[in-house]
Amino acid sequence: MSAVRVHNFSISIDGFATGEGQAADAPFGHAGERLHEWMFATRSWQGEGGSIGADNAFAERHGPGIGAEIMGAGKFGPPNWQDDPDYRGAWGPNPPFHAPVFVLTHRPRPSIEMEGGTTFHFLDASPAEALDRAREAAAGQDVRLGGGPTVVRDFVNADLVDHLHVVQVPLLLGRGVRLWDGLEALEEKYDIEAVSTPSRVTHLTFTRRR
Ligand SMILES: NC(=O)c1ccc[n+]([C@@H]2O[C@H](COP(=O)([O-])OP(=O)(O)OC[C@H]3O[C@@H](n4cnc5c(N)ncnc54)[C@H](OP(=O)(O)O)[C@@H]3O)[C@@H](O)[C@H]2O)c1
Repeated sequence: MSAVRVHNFSISIDGFATGEGQAADAPFGHAGERLHEWMFATRSWQGEGGSIGADNAFAERHGPGIGAEIMGAGKFGPPNWQDDPDYRGAWGPNPPFHAPVFVLTHRPRPSIEMEGGTTFHFLDASPAEALDRAREAAAGQDVRLGGGPTVVRDFVNADLVDHLHVVQVPLLLGRGVRLWDGLEALEEKYDIEAVSTPSRVTHLTFTRRR
């Protein structure tokens, strides 16, 4: 069975994966870009000239072997994007997914085909149902769970995540949406590894025991 993987999911020390005040010009609210500075510095993100050390080794695992992505409505766009019938996501005409993307929303709409192989499908469905759809579309490849924190938490809660890569960034956000709320004892189900890098982040990987 294809695996469900989360990559490069960045949280503050106090567990927030996004700040307060999400908006079209502030997709991470008051967190700004601070949660992903470690990633922006890598070759995987910026190409030639980017760092090629441990952060890059983690960052570049995001793409290979992925056949579809699932994301939440909060990642797809700012609050109330559903009110705009022409809204096509936060990434412009050629989004970086290049695969089918299943957007969980209570206000679904017809699918949108974008440039570069990305098609957005909108689902009002349980995590398990959404995963069935994504697995079918992924045709044997893995499914990436793209976030945000509400959706990652729901899928972990439903026991559907096989590999979770969380990057703990040394800042305190104080407010926003937290990843871990309501989850407990993941160490009983997952092998957990931790690697800190010179950029001062700690990569945590949770790999479900078979
Ligand atoms: N730190 C990171 O690495 C990272 C990664 C990705 C995203 N983000 C950030 O995370 C934020 C978004 O996270 P979030 O927790 O606010 O939202 P989210 O997890 O993206 O989406 C949650 C929303 O999706 C819809 N939804 C979820 N499950 C559903 C289901 N089973 N059926 C139907 N609809 C469902 C609901 O929206 P409706 O009821 O409105 O339809 C729900 O409020 C953004 O700021 C984004 O930039 C951070």
